[in-house]
Amino acid sequence: MPFTSHLKNPCTLIMSRIMEFYEVVKTRRSVRTFRPDEPDPEAMARVLEAVRLSPSGSNRQPWKFVLVSDSEKKAEVVATCGRQAWIDEAPIVVVACGRKTGSNRGGYMGDMSFLLDISIAFTQFILAARAEGLGTCWIGDFENETIKGALGIPEDYDVVAVSPLGYPEAEKAFHETDRRKPLSEIVSQEKF
Ligand SMILES: Cc1cc2nc3c(=O)[nH]c(=O)nc-3n(C[C@H](O)[C@H](O)[C@H](O)COP(=O)(O)O)c2cc1C
Repeated sequence: MPFTSHLKNPCTLIMSRIMEFYEVVKTRRSVRTFRPDEPDPEAMARVLEAVRLSPSGSNRQPWKFVLVSDSEKKAEVVATCGRQAWIDEAPIVVVACGRKTGSNRGGYMGDMSFLLDISIAFTQFILAARAEGLGTCWIGDFENETIKGALGIPEDYDVVAVSPLGYPEAEKAFHETDRRKPLSEIVSQEKF
């Protein structure tokens, strides 16, 4: 059964999740070693629902997330991701695509703002995955055109982000980090 049809109303289940939001944010880490077992289908349905509910400019929802689990297709995608063969360990590789709307929404990003929409949805995806005990790693190093050819992605879409998805192999994959700038460096009041 496809993940997308597993639950009639996954949103209701999202409401009943018990993992606290800030705990999710604090302990999400990029995961680079995976167990081979498939994600729980109900957990997957909730994660995908978190993607579906993401905000986007003018509510255009220009996203399409392609879940790749076929081993040949997965290897084709991973081969484009620089020297990152470890990605193939995950049972699923997620390819997030954005429709190039061709219309300028205003602001200096103009018709590139689909990159923002897909990045927001991808962030909801990685946080929801962490809440479900599933590991992800945002992969920015990939070949757009090669993946488009391999997965039959239409011309008016581009790949924006890729991530492995699966249960982490390492016991302490999720943990807090001190590898961040102090708040005083990144936030100011009234002027820069
Ligand atoms: C846009 C973007 C692109 C990234 N590309 C890669 C990548 O190609 N390979 C990789 O191993 N990690 C990649 N990362 C993960 C970052 O290295 C990681 O988020 C950062 O070091 C902080 O670590 P943390 O995610 O564990 O908190 C990327 C992250 C972002 C946001």
